[in-house]
Amino acid sequence: MCGIVGYTGSKNAVPILISGLKALEYRGYDSAGIHIVNVGTIKRTGKVAELEKSLPAAIDGTTGVGHTRWATHGPPTEANAHPHADSARIIALVHNGIIENYAELKAALVQEGIVFASETDTEVLAQLIGKEFSIKKDLESAVRAALSKVRGTYGILVAAEREPGKLVAAKLGSPLMLGIAEDGYHVASDASAILPYTRTVIYLEDGEMATVTKEGYRIEADAGPVQKKIEELEWGVEEIQKMGYEHFMLKEILEIPEVITNTLRGRLLSDSAILGGLRDVLPRILKAKRIIITGCGSAYYSGLIGEMLIEEFAGIPAEVELASELRYRRFTMNPKEAVLIAVSQSGETLDTLEAVKEAKKHGMLTLGIVNVVGSSIARATDAGVYNHAGPEIGVASTKAFISQLAVFVLIALLLGRNRELSKIEGERLVTELRQLPELARSALSLRPQIESIAATFRSTRDAYFLGRKWHCPIAYEGALKLKEISYVHAEGYGAGEMKHGPIALIDPDFLSVILAPRDSVYEKTKSNMQEIRARGGRLLALTTQGNESDLFSLADAVLSVPLTHEALQPLLTAIPLQLFAYEMARLRALPIDQPRNLAKSVTVE
Ligand code: M6R
Repeated sequence: MCGIVGYTGSKNAVPILISGLKALEYRGYDSAGIHIVNVGTIKRTGKVAELEKSLPAAIDGTTGVGHTRWATHGPPTEANAHPHADSARIIALVHNGIIENYAELKAALVQEGIVFASETDTEVLAQLIGKEFSIKKDLESAVRAALSKVRGTYGILVAAEREPGKLVAAKLGSPLMLGIAEDGYHVASDASAILPYTRTVIYLEDGEMATVTKEGYRIEADAGPVQKKIEELEWGVEEIQKMGYEHFMLKEILEIPEVITNTLRGRLLSDSAILGGLRDVLPRILKAKRIIITGCGSAYYSGLIGEMLIEEFAGIPAEVELASELRYRRFTMNPKEAVLIAVSQSGETLDTLEAVKEAKKHGMLTLGIVNVVGSSIARATDAGVYNHAGPEIGVASTKAFISQLAVFVLIALLLGRNRELSKIEGERLVTELRQLPELARSALSLRPQIESIAATFRSTRDAYFLGRKWHCPIAYEGALKLKEISYVHAEGYGAGEMKHGPIALIDPDFLSVILAPRDSVYEKTKSNMQEIRARGGRLLALTTQGNESDLFSLADAVLSVPLTHEALQPLLTAIPLQLFAYEMARLRALPIDQPRNLAKSVTVE
């Protein structure tokens, strides 16, 4: 959602901040701004390009901070955009997170005669830091004193005219990292802003504060100075660029075969899986009486398939809860007998992170299925498995969703082979898994067909996505994909639910996308198609190769993907649904990578 960048060094900070803000654009924002120390602040609503256009030609300075804002307190206006200053304009602050007690702090500051320029919670913190800095000798003491008064979450970066080469960063519940380059230091809330300049980073932990100058950095926690591990980012800079594709979403869908290969690489035995990240905690997982999976959006839907995989192959009872609900629920199970698996591409989704913290508070073992190395959820969980899907920039989760499914298959296989799954069944799964990248390639070759089907349905206003068993979660996911990218009203249902209400809406204008692979529930799904047909509804059927002719008479259009193991089929059927959503949005000329109102990572509740 909001994004932070900062630089202090020997180069002009302005182009570095602007390129950092552009790299953060994918996370969603509505206004942006930069502050260059001893030069000034410029803020604009809308795209970073608007901000860039309005910069004076000669603007130059070697220390500065920048921000992309996604409005929470106050509408997206220039006044509410960051950086914020105190009334005396001695400091500039950019902030991600929410200051929960801002109203009471603001009331006290107003009583003292301080006049506010914005409606934001952030300005309250800026005023507090400015006030402290007028009496304290250095910026870090002022920041520390101000932070002791606030309640909430923050990743902040502060600059001051009085200490021109210095930046102070602090973190509590909102990600921040320090990038170490030859010419100076970068600070950012997301690796993509740093990647073009350096891959050497330090992740700040909650409660830590970094003082960064052109010469070096110092990191402190409450107990004093901290020696931090210096890490290398594993992503390459080309992975955060479109590389000639029209949209990141398309590039990322087309990467799926390679992503499956990367997720499986080095993790398959002939009849089982090896997951280094789970090695130490495996005995405890195997003893679990219940596995609770949590996540939001597509990550939650991947969890619904994960639940079935774990029950089917490992025989461990599993359940899936929305992270935004789980965190408020009473934990009734014995925490020693339950394991939480948190699924998150970004590793920064606040509700998922809070659910992890809640489970940990109850003494539960927590695991992460996370794509972003070093992210908050990856760090908060006791152990986990990285997706290795590479950066996902398009707001719609595509390759990351598929890789989440692949990780769940690996976990189920590993647990299963340590419990009741037979060697033969293990071998069968591994054999089919190894073929998946090739089969995914074949699913991607449907693109021209999907393009013309999308043209047929381009003016559709409403759509159901229906599927049974393994394909019920894929129906939910297909509907989410279509609605978030193409703004078509779409709902996903277990096909068996049709007759319990949804069928009332079927008429000749209503599209139903039916997931009907040749699997154990095929005939039942086919009956649902007949019921829709009988009511004049439009039908797009997605089946498996070789079965097309069975559905031609029922559906307006039929697509088919290669047949694989029933439990792996969702990894293939999800692909045409992603392409369908993409083509529908493209035909409608919509902003596919950054759809309205959405952000790539949801870091507020
Ligand atoms: O980063 P996360 O996986 O935790 O994100 C969870 C959801 O916000 C995300 O899957 C969202 O639903 C996507 N826009 C779906 O395409």
